[in-house]
Amino acid sequence: MQARGNWSSKFGFVMAAAGSAIGLGNIWKFPYVAGANGGGGFLLIYLAIVATIGFSVLMAELVIGRSTQRNPVGAIKRLQGGKWWPLIGYAGIITAFVILSYYVVVAGWTLAYIFKSASGLLATTDDKALGGMFTGFISDPVEPVLWAGAFTALTVFVVIGGVNQGLERSSRILMPALFGLVVILCIRSLTLPGAGAGWDFFTTPDWSKVTFQTVIDALGQAFFSLSLGMGTIITYGSYLSRDTDVVESGFTVVSLDTLIAVMAGVMILPAVFAFGLDPAAGPGLTFITLPHVFAQMTGGVFFGPLFFVLLAIAALTSAVSLLEVVTAYFVDELGWKRKTCTIWAGVVAFLLCIPSSLSLGVWSDATLFGKGFLDIMDFLATNLMLPIGGMAISLFVGWVVPKEMMDDFCSGNPKLGNLAKVWLFFVRIVSPLAIFVVLLNGLPFVAPYLPWN
Ligand code: PFF
Repeated sequence: MQARGNWSSKFGFVMAAAGSAIGLGNIWKFPYVAGANGGGGFLLIYLAIVATIGFSVLMAELVIGRSTQRNPVGAIKRLQGGKWWPLIGYAGIITAFVILSYYVVVAGWTLAYIFKSASGLLATTDDKALGGMFTGFISDPVEPVLWAGAFTALTVFVVIGGVNQGLERSSRILMPALFGLVVILCIRSLTLPGAGAGWDFFTTPDWSKVTFQTVIDALGQAFFSLSLGMGTIITYGSYLSRDTDVVESGFTVVSLDTLIAVMAGVMILPAVFAFGLDPAAGPGLTFITLPHVFAQMTGGVFFGPLFFVLLAIAALTSAVSLLEVVTAYFVDELGWKRKTCTIWAGVVAFLLCIPSSLSLGVWSDATLFGKGFLDIMDFLATNLMLPIGGMAISLFVGWVVPKEMMDDFCSGNPKLGNLAKVWLFFVRIVSPLAIFVVLLNGLPFVAPYLPWN
């Protein structure tokens, strides 16, 4: 067996896991999904889901990883998962490709926006022009694909470096820098004339806008944002040494991720209202609103490119974790060389991203249920595969290996005993049941047939 890497410290692990969690999901996706779902009500539901289902599933993944020191497939096999439970691990590998297929596309946009904002191309407060530039760019058949390719190559390069050199080092300095810049942008956004309406929209629930769709969007967003349901956290946890405390680390990762998502909401939504834009405008929200903010902000010429550099890096540390799930499986289970399997996985991810990118332009007519390829991939991953994966991981830890996992949760600290009992109750019953009910009610092709609807 090849030697496995290890995080150099608990801090290194927390930064890397936070690096996986914090990415486009927080800064690009959260504000527009919250905007499309009416703001405040979505925020409250999201926070409730993160604190209960999110935290319990994250802990389930962490203990599986740390106790077995294996990739998800190997970990579940080792925990007597029999024939069926390891399917969770295989499904995770497929999910990684599904997510990568559009993640690298949007990450490519952020790379392009570094150069566009540095060249002064975006230096206008004319929202129509900014919107036109964004739509023109993403619907181009060539340019965004090249940027996605460049981003995929960067991801492959970092993953080949292995855990210590690659993942950890890149997360340590850059995540705090991103945090600092988001704070500055929150202040700027909140002090714009007319920002108050956006603040109210984001913090005051309007329950008339909340439906089951809101709940399923919040659930999917929580899984996506926390990198849960496909074995990423199992994989990262497997590089933790067995004596590291997981409860504190898990809590820190969940808190940091949620803090950044909420701050991204504060950074974007008040500005959206101040400029009279539509909060439900969808995926372009961040890419149209922020250039406007930079264009009329002191130091905007500097902050603009810097922001997109840091966002690209946040996306990189997340994409790296997606690819690492694939690599860890091929290295651990099939004995492949790290470099070979990572390059192959990168090639597949790049090929899959081409239809995603083209579905926003020349292939926009090719739809299924009214959705293009990119939207279908996002729907499959966020609304189906991650929640179902999370439900399965929860059931596995709660019912198949509860005793070992309880001990592992406590990591020899008897004070955690009561917390472990509450946690077990969640992973056994509350989380799987809640996910099941939300999925049933939120899925457009199931919900209408339910007897209570
Ligand atoms: N959590 C990442 C984000 O919010 O951008 C995306 C992601 C990474 C999802 C890794 C799932 C995953 F396994």
